[in-house]
Amino acid sequence: MMQFSFCSQIVTSPEALIIPIAQQPDTDAVLSRIADQTGVAVEFIKNDFKAELKEVHILYAKEGQKSKRIFLLGLGEKVRSIDIINAFRSFIFKRKSNLPVHLGISFLHQNAPKNLAEWTEAAVNGLLLGMYDIGLYKTEKKEKSTTTDLSTVSIGIFAEKQFEKNIEAAIARGKATAETQLEIFDLVNAPANKKTPQTLAEWALHSGKKYGYSVKIFDKEGIESLGLHALLAVNRGSETPPTFIVMEYKPEGEPVKKIGLVGKGVTFDTGGLSIKPSSNMHYMKSDMGGAAAVMGVMELAAKLKMPFHLFGVVPATENSVDAMSIRPGDVIGSYHGKTIEVIDTDAEGRLILADGLCYVVRHFEPDILIDLATLTGSCIRTFGYYAGGLFSNNDDLATRISDACEKTGERLWRLPLWDDYKKELKSDVADIKNFSGSPAAGAITAAKFLEEFIETHPAWAHMDIAGVAVSDSEFSSQKSATAFGVRLLIAYMESLKDNTPS
Ligand code: BES
Ligand code: ZN
Ligand code: ZN
Repeated sequence: MMQFSFCSQIVTSPEALIIPIAQQPDTDAVLSRIADQTGVAVEFIKNDFKAELKEVHILYAKEGQKSKRIFLLGLGEKVRSIDIINAFRSFIFKRKSNLPVHLGISFLHQNAPKNLAEWTEAAVNGLLLGMYDIGLYKTEKKEKSTTTDLSTVSIGIFAEKQFEKNIEAAIARGKATAETQLEIFDLVNAPANKKTPQTLAEWALHSGKKYGYSVKIFDKEGIESLGLHALLAVNRGSETPPTFIVMEYKPEGEPVKKIGLVGKGVTFDTGGLSIKPSSNMHYMKSDMGGAAAVMGVMELAAKLKMPFHLFGVVPATENSVDAMSIRPGDVIGSYHGKTIEVIDTDAEGRLILADGLCYVVRHFEPDILIDLATLTGSCIRTFGYYAGGLFSNNDDLATRISDACEKTGERLWRLPLWDDYKKELKSDVADIKNFSGSPAAGAITAAKFLEEFIETHPAWAHMDIAGVAVSDSEFSSQKSATAFGVRLLIAYMESLKDNTPS
């Protein structure tokens, strides 16, 4: 892992300096100052560099200057934290094979932005994420000759002395967040033959031990004793047994609130007997993106010592095809007690979440209940890959989550939970069915199904992250993990901490 440190002056000059520059009214003045210092004619710089998002322009400093290369890094006009993250992430990803060992990021060349800590946190976060290597199973490592050993790279953040404390805290946050996100990337990107429900359980146990929160794993027998019948039903067709992961983080002082989190942990979704078409089935290794988000939030909240009492619950299983699999038309039980007619075995996420949600409500009585799940193709048809769906029976909760989305750049858009949709799930033979039988409003009817298992909890939010848990990126030709939800939920909790009304 790269080393970061605060530096107040460019005395020990780094070999290369990155100067992040936004398109703002003073951009010209900033460029003029850089021109003076480097001896490059200002017209050239202004002509060649527009500070557009992710734009990079290299200057070679005149003789006598210690920083030999200066990278002007465009941040665009809006300069949201996600823009800064993406600019640094893309910069480092492209250049990581040829980095000098001492690198600097300068906030001295421009008028220091008001939110310097936010910029620093985002820059550090982006730099670390940009070093992600998705080639986990490649046997041939890349050519050594040009590859910088990234663990030896040290990065100085240059700013005025008065900002030292803030910057150091921001470095620590950006780093803590990135470390967890990188772990989540690996977990979500892992193929299903390397990632079983047991693997998720082991990850949680290891993380809990390392960062000081408790983890209890229920194996198949434990799940049977608990009576998680819907989870067991989904697991019937798989060779690997299910796990039920219960994580608890207790802060040192009085908690601000008790929050229950539930994540869909389907380690591979074939669809079961209602089998999926094969064309994009390989992406179903990421059908545990909700679980990964919950696990990431537990870890990061513990690292950051957030003042919340958190419960993270992950029902984990594969959804496979076998003679033992549940069949369309089967009637199964649930932890809640309601009977469910399984119209489509591919609507398995809502079944295991039903058990997870009801368990959290009954056992922990949280003030706030949130679930995350790669739940429906319908949500992708609604929002494409640009946003997930947000459902909530509580306006304050929904508004706070939406505000947090705005802050972190993880987009969710609210959809209704009107009772009109409920009748779609009426079963002739059981208490409820898991699919209406029609493709209309699939994301909403899925949410309505979940609502039947929260025991009228007054502050519940459901995030359908099917379209955003994996996305296109510089890391790979295929879609890969985003760790969607991790920064978002931490930002949501921050908003409760300050107790400012939303
Ligand atoms: N895991 C899928 C949803 C999904 C689809 C996630 C594409 C990511 C990308 C879920 O289990 C599923 O198959 N849902 C079905 C439900 C339907 C049968 C009612 C769907 O949305 O098609
Ligand atoms: Zn499915
Ligand atoms: Zn699924």
